[in-house]
Amino acid sequence: MNPRQRRAATAAVLAALVLAGCAPAVQNGATVSLAVVPAPASVAPGTGAPFRLTGDTAVAGDADASAALSLLITARTGLELKTSDDGSTDLRVESGGAPESYRIVADEASVTVVGADPAGLFYGVQTLGQLVQPDDDGWIVPAVEIEDAPRFAYRGVMLDVARHFHPVDTVKGLIDRAAGLKFNALHLHLTDDQGWRIHLDERPRLTELASATAVGGDPGGFYTKDDYREIVEYAASRHMIVVPELDMPSHTHAIGLAYPELVEEPVISAQVREDAELFDGDLPETGKPYDGMAVGFSSLRIHDEATYDFVADVFGELAAMTPGPYLHFGGDEALGTTDEDFALFVSRTSAIIADLGKTPVAWHEAGEASEIADSTVGQYWGYVQPTDGADEKARGFVRNGAQLIMSPADAIYLDMNYPTGPDLGLTWANGPTSVERAYDWDPGSVVSGIEEDDILGVEAPLWTETIRTAADIDTMVFPRIAAAAEAGWSPATGTSDLRTWESFRERVGALGPLWTSLGIGFHPSDEIPWVTE
Ligand code: ACM
Repeated sequence: MNPRQRRAATAAVLAALVLAGCAPAVQNGATVSLAVVPAPASVAPGTGAPFRLTGDTAVAGDADASAALSLLITARTGLELKTSDDGSTDLRVESGGAPESYRIVADEASVTVVGADPAGLFYGVQTLGQLVQPDDDGWIVPAVEIEDAPRFAYRGVMLDVARHFHPVDTVKGLIDRAAGLKFNALHLHLTDDQGWRIHLDERPRLTELASATAVGGDPGGFYTKDDYREIVEYAASRHMIVVPELDMPSHTHAIGLAYPELVEEPVISAQVREDAELFDGDLPETGKPYDGMAVGFSSLRIHDEATYDFVADVFGELAAMTPGPYLHFGGDEALGTTDEDFALFVSRTSAIIADLGKTPVAWHEAGEASEIADSTVGQYWGYVQPTDGADEKARGFVRNGAQLIMSPADAIYLDMNYPTGPDLGLTWANGPTSVERAYDWDPGSVVSGIEEDDILGVEAPLWTETIRTAADIDTMVFPRIAAAAEAGWSPATGTSDLRTWESFRERVGALGPLWTSLGIGFHPSDEIPWVTE
């Protein structure tokens, strides 16, 4: 290559990087990073000098957004922003844009963040927090114009508090972390064979008798109604709804400890025996707490009216406690239940929830029940390349006119073990799961025969058979949750230069110092080029 060719090639690479809005861009002779995760819809780097943050920088505008920005800036830089009526950083809501959208304009003189609604302004602030970076003279925001709006309305993270219970403060920590990546739903998997974790006045024996233990004989726990209210309010303050799940008709062994008349005898299949042996657990026994990891052996009594009185009681009370529109009733892995009985249960339970004025949500198995309430949203947890007819079950919800939440287990089940990393997590969903595999899929290409509008959004679940502490949660969630954030928020793969693994890994790497300053104990995966300051 002669020098002229080499210069032309270098210019082409720089143009691609600048267009991609990826680190690095050259501004005013200096190299700056425009690394934002999830990738915005549009990033136009400026060429002028950056905005300089100092001890005199003042923020004007919306009080909640100012507080959120101050928190981020102080964590990252140690600087305390002043508040003033006409600060050089201006945060405001101007209605009119798409829901949750925002615009940032930063130049040497000022930074303006305008949200179409309070959530949009909050997301603009999160982006601005990611743009703050050090240079030789202190802290800057690069000159840039960003226009951004989410691809999907629903962007969720799920925490299983049944296999291991996690206290309110841990849940709040996850809310903060997820909101920073523009997630807007926290799905709490509140019940399973190992424990019932939410107090309900209508059925007090559930927490009195079925909440004390967890997987491996670890201590259990439960949320009081005040605890749940605190979680819901905290989530709302970060623009997140709570989607509570009471899993049934299977995953219900714990219910039998409190109300034995409602449950069937455990169905001990060869798979249940194998799982019990593999994970060193006992077989489930009627009336005894279950602390193993097998699934699919328990069931409510499908043909007993008392079951539907129970369903109406627990979902009725939960509906009154939950301002968000969704109630999740599980419906997964009813392996000891006939198809006919499963369909009957799904139809009656989804109707009870719909009659409460809520939108039922169920795992994809329920989509094959022909009489399911039409409004029921399906949650797909099959693989990126569907197996065993999981995609056909998911299409059942769409045929009814409802939408899907995409949670492909071999990509964004956050409890899957990493290829190199801590001895945490499981491997059953094609694991170990690399960060690249968590990233390398698109929500629109998993279930064929559906349209973009048939997808409500994306959710990354964290099951907690092996996850005991807040530190365990951080390790398993970060950095892979960033891949799910990008799948839920950013333009589709192939429609933006930013939506490539190479761009993503650079942008995630640039977030290392911010995550560290926020106390996030991420897994330092060797797939990511981590920036250290
Ligand atoms: C599931 O992973 N059983 C939804």
